Amino acid sequence: MRRPVIAGNWKMYKTIDEAVSTVADLVRLVDGVDDREILIAPTFVGLQAVANAARGTNVLVAAQDCAPHPGQGAFTGEVSAEMIADTGATHVIVGHSERRQYFHETDASVNQKIRACLGAGLTPIVCVGELLSDRDSGAAEGVAGRQIRGAFEGLTGAEVVRTIVAYEPVWAIGTGRTATPEIAQQMHRLIRETIANLVGSDVSEAIRILYGGSVKAENVSELMQEPDVDGGLVGGASLDALSFSRIVRYE
Ligand code: 13P
Repeated sequence: MRRPVIAGNWKMYKTIDEAVSTVADLVRLVDGVDDREILIAPTFVGLQAVANAARGTNVLVAAQDCAPHPGQGAFTGEVSAEMIADTGATHVIVGHSERRQYFHETDASVNQKIRACLGAGLTPIVCVGELLSDRDSGAAEGVAGRQIRGAFEGLTGAEVVRTIVAYEPVWAIGTGRTATPEIAQQMHRLIRETIANLVGSDVSEAIRILYGGSVKAENVSELMQEPDVDGGLVGGASLDALSFSRIVRYE
């Protein structure tokens, strides 16, 4: 059985104080939930404080990005996977569509970042997903498949299985337009088959694939009922502790 993951991506929201107080509220609201993984991804400046506030609880902490280069070096503005691990964070979101759209993230840099995370003992959450124009032109599956192959190029099955994938159709992010459970299932199945072709079905059956894009308390259960949907990556609805705790506690 794949253990579900519910992850909150706070994007460029919240001061450090707001982040710490939201995570403290969340810790109380999800106390005792132990059959699924719960993750929060604050900004870099909030990462250490949130990791301290969540330490020893069932809430794990993720960064929203990392440098493609391991260790230390002359890379102004960058934060390495090792530095993220040093805060107590355990996961990193890699290749989010906003980074692909606005910050020139490519499949090749996603691949480097995955390697950097694995080298630092962190779990990368690898985001893929098509644009609305891709979906309208029938290219959705081709785009997601290409992103998966590019992200995992040259990695062994033992490496790929240490990652989490998030399917986030760009047209569903922040739009209130959630993918139907059928579309999510179809795309997750395709992603699993792509991974099976790359590194074998042992890995593809074990890897968790999250859905992201307008996930809310009202639609999480029907999405989670699909056999290949193993969790959610939640943006807007993760900013409020009570709203996010309702998603975490889906039945
Ligand atoms: P929304 O839940 O706000 O649509 O954002 C999804 C997302 O981008 C999570 O990474």
